[in-house]
Amino acid sequence: MAVFALLACAMTKTVPKESHAMNIIPRPVSIESLDGQFVFKAMTSISFSGEIQNTQFFKEFLGTLIPDITEGNTGTADINIELSPEKDIPSEGYEMQVSSKGITISAISEPGIFYAIQSLRQMLPSSIEGQAVSLKGQHLKAVLIKDQPRFKWRGMHLDVSRHFFPAEFIKRYIDMIALHKMNIFHWHLSDDNGWRLEIKQYPKLTEICAWRVDREHEDWRKWSPIQEGEASTYGGFYTQEEVREIVDYAAQRQITIIPEIEMPGHSSEIFAAYPELSCTGEVFPVRPGSYWPNENIFCAGNDSVFVFLENIIDEVSELFPAEYIHIGGDEAKKTHWKTCPKCQKRLTSEGLADEHELQSWFIQKMEKYILAKGKRIIGWDEILEGGLAPEATVMSWRGEAGGISAAKAGHDVVMTPTSHVYFDYYQGDPKTEPQAIGGYLPLKKVYSYEPIPFELDKSEHKYVLGAQANLWTEFVKTTDHAEYMVLPRMSALAEVLWSTRENRDWDNFQKRLQTLIPRFDALDWNYSHGSFLLEILPGLQHDESIEVEINSEQSDRDIRFTLDGTDPTSNSDIYTEKLILKQDSKVRAAIFGDQQQLGRVIQRDFAFHKALQAETSYALKYHKSYQGGGKSGLVDGILGSDNFKDGTWQGFEGNDLELTIDLGELRMVFKTEMNFLQSSDAWIFMPEYLEVSLSRNGEEWQVIGSSMSEVSERAEGTTIQRLTVDFTPTETRYIKVLAKNRGICPEWHAGAGEKSWIFCDEVIVR
Ligand code: ACM
Ligand code: ZN
Repeated sequence: MAVFALLACAMTKTVPKESHAMNIIPRPVSIESLDGQFVFKAMTSISFSGEIQNTQFFKEFLGTLIPDITEGNTGTADINIELSPEKDIPSEGYEMQVSSKGITISAISEPGIFYAIQSLRQMLPSSIEGQAVSLKGQHLKAVLIKDQPRFKWRGMHLDVSRHFFPAEFIKRYIDMIALHKMNIFHWHLSDDNGWRLEIKQYPKLTEICAWRVDREHEDWRKWSPIQEGEASTYGGFYTQEEVREIVDYAAQRQITIIPEIEMPGHSSEIFAAYPELSCTGEVFPVRPGSYWPNENIFCAGNDSVFVFLENIIDEVSELFPAEYIHIGGDEAKKTHWKTCPKCQKRLTSEGLADEHELQSWFIQKMEKYILAKGKRIIGWDEILEGGLAPEATVMSWRGEAGGISAAKAGHDVVMTPTSHVYFDYYQGDPKTEPQAIGGYLPLKKVYSYEPIPFELDKSEHKYVLGAQANLWTEFVKTTDHAEYMVLPRMSALAEVLWSTRENRDWDNFQKRLQTLIPRFDALDWNYSHGSFLLEILPGLQHDESIEVEINSEQSDRDIRFTLDGTDPTSNSDIYTEKLILKQDSKVRAAIFGDQQQLGRVIQRDFAFHKALQAETSYALKYHKSYQGGGKSGLVDGILGSDNFKDGTWQGFEGNDLELTIDLGELRMVFKTEMNFLQSSDAWIFMPEYLEVSLSRNGEEWQVIGSSMSEVSERAEGTTIQRLTVDFTPTETRYIKVLAKNRGICPEWHAGAGEKSWIFCDEVIVR
């Protein structure tokens, strides 16, 4: 690190801060700093040696970065690019040496050369992007870079069915993938809301199935019904000519396009033109929004379904040279299969046990056809249900479980868990972000992702090909918005997939990202400035104190805080290190830049009391969905917010909260305080009463006092009330609290007669 700091200082005088090998994203495997520097002249000569197919493209690509470029003599040019298969360099790897004499790039294959060029690009100032500026006089510090990717599947997905994005944008998206040295573009071409690929044998797919009524002005989840005679005007598709051009464009950038054709579910758009292929035969237009469950799916008993799909696969195979075709397989609700005579007949004739096996049979039939074409299938993890097709690769999206079981069975997997790589999730405070589908996936969480699940043995690691981020576009209507959702989360994922584990360092990444962002600006790519939401992380309590860490994604901004419950201002203290609390505190914090508050105020209250970290025992356990910190959650000093899902509230469904606290020794106490939360819409009510008992030995108990809430059970919204029980100072070791649950929701309530909840955040003992 010391070396890095020194270099960064030395460099600032000669070249702009961002043009440095130390700033490359994804971080190279090794960068050795050498003496000297290369200085660009008025003309930069370039030479190629070895069997390079893509020479013309490389020259053009470099020409857009270095406009004053000319052919040179092999070995003596300013930039020497050599492809030498006999060199000891990994297949997608490269070596790049910058010296006073020039720049030498070596690789054993063309991807390596392309990736070296991307590194060189990031070593040049961002002002080169998108315009021809002379590099004459520009210095490049001498370095030796040795680099290679960690994973071979470094993917980005884009859903073009929910919203359609024009061919020009697809190229732009590919440009983004290329800058990040990623190599897979998963093109989600078909789904319930529009078919997007020209198929010569089935023109109605693009005449009818690519179009829906325009509901762009309303919430995606609403999709108000189609009016009688209303025209379907929203949509679009890619012609085969456009697809060929895009496939070539991607290939030149070392990106493979994986086309996805959804089956048997997420296929209802097709029935707008070919209703005979569903179980019900019902005719309905392409839908302008999401509906659930997704039960209009291909009929598995109808042979013409397979003729149709195989004809489509014929054209798809022709168009896309990739090894894989993605066949979807997700979220197919089998309601109609259960009652469809054709499906049931198939189930019997094939000796299948249930509808899951029928789906498996469907996928295996398609796999056979696709294998015969010399290709392989990849599908969402539901294809595991009912038995995995023999050669299938699994895309694990519902967490890691699908990926783990497929890898354990010896199948290749690509990890795309919602938790870490669903880029349709919020990346900042939902209150200040454009509407997203839900979730919360800030940059830091993407960066923290480890694609190899720890459940896998070392021998199974090889089945994890890599990972991929998915951008579903229900809520993403424009290209600008799509860019915003993927940048810079793509930068974080690129590093997860390319760099070594040891080279991954969040603070260091954040600093390098600040030098990549001006490149996004120069390219006119839209991006998120990162979440301005702070995280307050209470730490361990030791020697009677609570440690509080405040985290931010904004490394170059100040966090200002107060401890007295007042909102921080531009004059409040700046957070520099963990806070050590030794008394009741109301922490309030926000991010400030140029004296201005940039995000919301984040708050968390702490109670400092005698029972902190005491032993607890429960008569009946808290609910597994609302553990509020578990066994020590009510004696951890952390108080709940008005969000009952914030992780600090402990919930009891139907039963009482009956908790015994052991202070470990006799101590003088005079008061207990407990916060209860009521949110009747969520079936959470105040307890009927709170009763406190004391005991010196844990056997003989004395009820010392009680308290009742004054909050009306009909109160709207969320209410937090503190119930206090005061008593004369008493020496005690054990304290028992009993909060009586009303048991069932009241008569007038939507949940009348069903179990009611009580929620508590802490037992404060004074
Ligand atoms: C998916 O997100 N339904 C694969
Ligand atoms: Zn059927």
